[in-house]
Amino acid sequence: MFVSDCGSFKKITGLATGNIYIVSSGDGGFVLVDCGGPPDFLLIESSLRSLDFNRTGEIHLVLTHFHFDHAGSAARIRRLYKAKIWAHEQEAPVLEGREEVPTLYNKGVIGRTLSAVPFISHITGMPEPVNVDFTFSDGDVLPLLGGLEVMHTPGHTPGSSSFFWGKEKVLFTGDAIINTFRFLTLPTEGFSCDFTLARDSALRLTEMASRKEIRYLCTGHGPVVIEPSRQLNRFRQRLLMF
Ligand SMILES: [Fe+2]
Repeated sequence: MFVSDCGSFKKITGLATGNIYIVSSGDGGFVLVDCGGPPDFLLIESSLRSLDFNRTGEIHLVLTHFHFDHAGSAARIRRLYKAKIWAHEQEAPVLEGREEVPTLYNKGVIGRTLSAVPFISHITGMPEPVNVDFTFSDGDVLPLLGGLEVMHTPGHTPGSSSFFWGKEKVLFTGDAIINTFRFLTLPTEGFSCDFTLARDSALRLTEMASRKEIRYLCTGHGPVVIEPSRQLNRFRQRLLMF
């Protein structure tokens, strides 16, 4: 129910609906893109067990952004597996607890409603700081899975990032594009620090996607879209009117 098999990778739906992607690196290790909320390390553990992970290979956790439903079990995963944590240079200070979590932005219906709840930003913030082993920035190619191209896609958070895995033609967008209702959209405004920037980032992603062949679109929430060019094109048309 929580796990879907997408051929060269698995997708786990975290308890707070944030997606976790697990890819075998082929040498006994695994690359995770995001790790869900604090309890989701249990789902990751059972998936790794089903994939015969024997703890001799390395685990690399690549984070799209610091939100609790994407990076919430990062500290646990780092401790359990001695995992290496990768994050954008602007997300690292929040992940490491050196900067405050700007979780809610008091915008849109959801943001204004949730902002009225006392202590909500503590509840939805990063539960446990985690050391970041490697930082990256726009245009970097991470030495994982034969090369993961980094695109800085800010707006949802300042350091939100997307990754293109060229070998399998997979685009991981984090919450720069979401598919919660099986319909590509921008992230929720109330959870985004700069919605105009979020729209520009999504547009940039759709433009990049139109120049490359994308076989799988892996968003931060919702199902994987296979052969997503038509949906991305339609989304791009909507963004241009926005
Ligand atoms: Fe998010």
